[in-house]
Amino acid sequence: MQLFLDTTDVAVLKDLAATGLVDGVTTNPSLIAKSGRNMLEVIAEICDLVEGPVSAEVAATAADQMLAEGRKLAGIATNVVVKVPLTREGLMATREFAHEGIQTNVTLCFSAAQAMLAAKAGATYISPFIGRLDDHGADGMDLITEIRAIYDNYDFDTEILAASVRSPAHVTAAALAGADCCTIPPATFLDLFKHPLTDRGLEAFLKDWAGTGQSIL
Ligand code: E4P
Repeated sequence: MQLFLDTTDVAVLKDLAATGLVDGVTTNPSLIAKSGRNMLEVIAEICDLVEGPVSAEVAATAADQMLAEGRKLAGIATNVVVKVPLTREGLMATREFAHEGIQTNVTLCFSAAQAMLAAKAGATYISPFIGRLDDHGADGMDLITEIRAIYDNYDFDTEILAASVRSPAHVTAAALAGADCCTIPPATFLDLFKHPLTDRGLEAFLKDWAGTGQSIL
C-alpha cells in the first residue's frame, strides 16, 4: 500500500517525509488556494522533497486546454502526475496524455462505471472519493471494492488511489479492499501512528526500566 500525503503545506510535508513513509503527494485547486501560494512554485518545491508521484491538477475544463496545462505541469519535474477531472473532456485529455507518456491521476471518481472509463482511457491512477461518498449517504468503501473487481477482471493496470480519506479506519478499509494507494491528510497520517494501548504500554515499560537503574549505552 503506497501512502501519499494530501497537502500543499511544504513544512508539514518536510516533517512527515522525514519518516520515510511518504510515497507521494496529491494536491488539488482547493489545497493550492488554501496555501495562498503560486501553484507552479509550490509543486516544484514538493517535487524536490518527494521522489514519488506528485499530483498537480489542471484547472481547464476543455480537453485541449487541459492538455496545454498538463504539459506545462509535467514539465516542472519528472515525478509530476497530471490530475484531470473525470469528465468526458478529462478522459479525452487522459487518453492523449497516455499516448504522450505523461502520467495522470483521474480525480473526482464517484462510480465504478467512471473508473472503468478512466482505465480504458489509460489513466495511471483513479481517485475514488471515499469521504465525500460517505457524506452523501453511500458507503465509499464499496466503490473501492467494485473498482478492484473490475480492474482485476480485465487486467487494467490503472492504480486505485483511495482519496477523500477522513480517518485511519478509512485507510485500513481501503487497504483491505485492495486499493493500491491512499492519499491522506496530514492530521490523519499522524493519527495512523497512534493507539492508546501503545502509549499506556510504553509508559509502563519506561517506568519499570527506570526502576532497574540500568542504561543500555
Ligand atoms: C485528493 O486527491 C483529493 O483531492 C482529496 O483527497 C479530496 O479530499 P476531500 O474530500 O477531503 O476534499
